[in-house]
Amino acid sequence: MPQQSSSFSSAHDVATEFDQWAQSGRGDRMADGHRYATEQLLEGLAIASDSVVLDAGCGIGWVLNDLIGEHIASGVGIDLSAEMIDIASSRCTLPHLKFAVSNSAQTPFEANRFSHIVSIESSYYVPDPLETLREWLRITQPGGRLGLVIDLYQDNPASPYWVEALSLTAHNLSVSQWRSLLLSAGWTQVGDRQVPLPGQIKPDAFIPSPYFPNYDIYRSYCDAGSLLLTAQKLAPPSE
Ligand SMILES: C[S@@+](CC[C@H](N)C(=O)[O-])C[C@H]1O[C@@H](n2cnc3c(N)ncnc32)[C@H](O)[C@@H]1O
Repeated sequence: MPQQSSSFSSAHDVATEFDQWAQSGRGDRMADGHRYATEQLLEGLAIASDSVVLDAGCGIGWVLNDLIGEHIASGVGIDLSAEMIDIASSRCTLPHLKFAVSNSAQTPFEANRFSHIVSIESSYYVPDPLETLREWLRITQPGGRLGLVIDLYQDNPASPYWVEALSLTAHNLSVSQWRSLLLSAGWTQVGDRQVPLPGQIKPDAFIPSPYFPNYDIYRSYCDAGSLLLTAQKLAPPSE
């Protein structure tokens, strides 16, 4: 199981790196790349008009602003990167959505605040995933749900290349390690699903990068796809 290490990237390092990503337009590219898997995730989370949703590590805020904001009671997006939050806030047109610079690992929220927490491609950056999953359980209502999208995980053959290519540290955990962490943190009804990525680049248009040094690695990444994890906070027994 992962442990917090003093060599793990600090909140300041994460904010600085993702401020640069935001300034260079990578926020929109991530939104495009993560949209398909996120839509699959949301379908299974029973989000409804009375839902109160937290997007932890929200980037430019596209999940709340573009996908679910109009259909929920209220939503909050948090991110360590002030540049990401500036973009999210500037695009927000609904008064019941808020965006704030805050750390997913130690949130400012009261217990039982949210009916749903989603976190898209962000949960492997926290220094101690178990502690963060416990924190998310604390701020979730009994019966509330958690949904994670994770592209960097051990069962995906491209992940070791990503870990090398990133300027930040990241937990490269297996599906079974994530499941164990969720259960250890107190979540129930833990589910996992891998969703192959659609619309793969054709071999003649493929450009190698540190993330995908060759086409075979790129293909194996798409075929393994995004890992969707879902879980629920135990609801009180019904009368
Ligand atoms: C790969 S990006 C994904 C952004 C967005 N969820 C998306 O799918 O477009 C990861 C995001 O998580 C944020 N992040 C990483 N660690 C965080 C933490 N401990 N608390 C809040 N945000 C965090 C980063 O600043 C970054 O914006």
